[in-house]
Amino acid sequence: MPTSSVDLSVELGGLNLKNPVVAASGTFGTGMDLAAYVNPADLGAVTVKSLSAFPWEGNAPPRLKTTPGGMLNTVGLQNPGIDAWSRSEYPELAETGATIIASVWGRSPGEFAEAASLVSRMTDIRAIELNLSCPNLESSSSMFAHSSLLTGEVIRVVRAAIPDRDITLLAKLSPNTTELVSVATAAVEAGADALTLINTVLGMSIDPSSGRLSTSRAPAGLSGPAIRPIAVRCVHEVATALPDVPVIGTGGVTDGESAVEMMRAGATAVGVGTASFFDPRATTKIVTQLQAFCRRHRVTRVSELTGALDTT
Ligand SMILES: Cc1cc2nc3c(=O)[nH]c(=O)nc-3n(C[C@H](O)[C@H](O)[C@H](O)COP(=O)(O)O)c2cc1C
Repeated sequence: MPTSSVDLSVELGGLNLKNPVVAASGTFGTGMDLAAYVNPADLGAVTVKSLSAFPWEGNAPPRLKTTPGGMLNTVGLQNPGIDAWSRSEYPELAETGATIIASVWGRSPGEFAEAASLVSRMTDIRAIELNLSCPNLESSSSMFAHSSLLTGEVIRVVRAAIPDRDITLLAKLSPNTTELVSVATAAVEAGADALTLINTVLGMSIDPSSGRLSTSRAPAGLSGPAIRPIAVRCVHEVATALPDVPVIGTGGVTDGESAVEMMRAGATAVGVGTASFFDPRATTKIVTQLQAFCRRHRVTRVSELTGALDTT
């Protein structure tokens, strides 16, 4: 089968992606950080590190710890603020022609709306991902995605703040709740076009010799292959309950086969995060591997894999 016969394009809540591989927020920098290894325009989309309407320092070091099958982080949403980003790194990233998903966060619905409104004014931002699920902030109110009520409220306020732009709105949800399907339903009812599942899983590590935490604070966020079965389960649960809602399945995707697994669980696209720390070329390699998988298995359109789960 010739290369051109595999159609890798997917449609994600009004956003057309040339392939289903999306760089996950916080693991691809805020601009050209990985451009020496990956042309951002070769990916389905690049999700930038979560940005706020104000500069934010994040947490103290140590902020990363490798663990069996993954890593823990307590970065804590460090970012330069949207205004500084729009003048520094954004123009160069936009110049590459990459499809940019702007991830934003706030400590209240109003701060989310302010951040979303600011990025919605940038012409090359096609989609906004609301990070409702960062586990690394002091205030537990940062975990909007543990409450259907708060999730719905944030999305309604953000929708009202960006009425004029044809922009895809994604809600990034947390695996650390038994209410995931209810929260996902509330997000869609409030106006989310698509969902990103999952953010990191709550974890903790202790240095046995010193008796200290391995990261500056706990809990930290666990990511990488260790969480893949959790992510696959979350994607499957939500895709089963909300079959018409596109999902970026994120968590432990490291190669073409794990991308296919995530799509079979119900994902329309896959987010790649920690894999880029272990191999900065991981995202483009996964595009190539996915294409090779499709050729080997005579799949002509990658979108056919979404939800293709044989439970007999
Ligand atoms: C160092 C690090 C920083 C992250 N920062 C963010 C962030 O700013 N916003 C966000 O929504 N997710 C953030 N994440 C979560 C990832 O986007 C992703 O949801 C998670 O790591 C699971 O995917 P993975 O196993 O492929 O890494 C971060 C993850 C890591 C490892």
